[in-house]
Amino acid sequence: MTERDETGPVRRGPPPPRVQLARAKVNLALHVTGRRADGYHLLDSLAVFPAIGDVLLAEPADQLDLAVEGPFGAELRDTPPEANLVLRAVRALADALAMPVPALHLRLTKRLPVASGIGGGSADAAAALRLVASHAGRDVPAEVLTRVAAALGADVPVCLAQAARRMRGIGDDLAPVPPLPPLGLVLVNPRQPVATPAVFKALQTRDNPPLPDLPEAFADARALTGYLAATRNDLEAPAQALCPAIGEVLEVLRAQDRVALARMSGSGATCFALCAPGDVNALTNDLQRAHPGWWVAGSPALQA
Ligand code: C5P
Repeated sequence: MTERDETGPVRRGPPPPRVQLARAKVNLALHVTGRRADGYHLLDSLAVFPAIGDVLLAEPADQLDLAVEGPFGAELRDTPPEANLVLRAVRALADALAMPVPALHLRLTKRLPVASGIGGGSADAAAALRLVASHAGRDVPAEVLTRVAAALGADVPVCLAQAARRMRGIGDDLAPVPPLPPLGLVLVNPRQPVATPAVFKALQTRDNPPLPDLPEAFADARALTGYLAATRNDLEAPAQALCPAIGEVLEVLRAQDRVALARMSGSGATCFALCAPGDVNALTNDLQRAHPGWWVAGSPALQA
């Protein structure tokens, strides 16, 4: 990391970043197209990453440890630290790189609701991988990061990319998508956790068609919402059967004049509404005021 000359240590390049935003993953469309012999489902999904996320901060320490705080930190209180995906990610990457476990004090600020269909835990794990890679003091091959990410969970590779992608396979087979038009996005969660395995188990039809072919470009917001109107989230019905509050959220969102499309993300219960970027703040404020029990967060753009 440093080299000496007559005048003392000289830094090579900038210091490793200490903070990572672990962006929420939002499935604009999610088709379940089959099931593998091991029980994992095959998907075809379009995922985007709004500027809403958890924050992971790293400070040098004597040994690796993790503190969880923030509005949803208490919900991870009963998770033993060793089961937290952040620590598992750090250890897995150190292991893959045959390097000692880095001595870092990690502070995770949970701003995303847990078990909510927007990949919070996966985003946290991916953020931890990016932090450790930047502290490794050498180039970490992308294949190593991707392999370690995939072993941690089906959504971790896309969260590593943190950019709009088409997800196939079990979610880990990623392809770029055409640039997305400017569109605002508001996330709403009724503050009820939903367990992903239970939703997949409740799914009735597992052999649905894939997404329609993506165009080479979306001319404007209307072209994207038009494309999405021909798609679904196949997990919406089973999730709603387990958590009826999802239906209430969708009904409220679909009744708003400013909302072009409302749908559930992932296995729920978080739903998203697409609107004009200039309407995000007013829609977020109106929803917060009318439904103080719900978690509502707005992002002016679909992707960075
Ligand atoms: O990979 P991850 O641990 O995030 O998946 C959690 C659970 O979600 C799996 O145990 C499985 O029940 C379900 N799942 C699935 N098909 C996928 C992704 C997840 O059935 N493609």
